[in-house]
Amino acid sequence: MRKEIFEPKIVCFACKWCTSAGADLAGTLRFKYKPNGIIIKIMCSSRVDPQHVLWAFKQKADGILIGGCHPGDCHYQNGNLKTMRRVMLLKKLLNDFGVEPERLHLEWISASEGKKFVKTMDNFIEKIRKLGPLK
Ligand code: FES
Repeated sequence: MRKEIFEPKIVCFACKWCTSAGADLAGTLRFKYKPNGIIIKIMCSSRVDPQHVLWAFKQKADGILIGGCHPGDCHYQNGNLKTMRRVMLLKKLLNDFGVEPERLHLEWISASEGKKFVKTMDNFIEKIRKLGPLK
């Protein structure tokens, strides 16, 4: 009998100016990454409201990756720094709800970092695979 391998469902909120462009670059360069994620393009990482994260978990996402511009590169001045603070608070909230905070990850990935996008996505998928499905 074959053993089922858990395939995590990942939602990636990707800033249009950097992470989303980095994902596009990865595709253009034909870098392969695991097909577990769906990418939702947003104008800035700061556009991700805590409700979006909670909604994605409610829709059976096992992990959520937020990708933003590197500090100092945000197209909306300091939106990404607000995102960083928001994610820290959100991780505490998730912990209070009994959800492992590691299921939410924030990464700075620029438009030229296609390889970093692939590596981040693959590493995050493996991390969530080890955690198992969200209960
Ligand atoms: S514009 Fe990319 S994080 Fe703000």
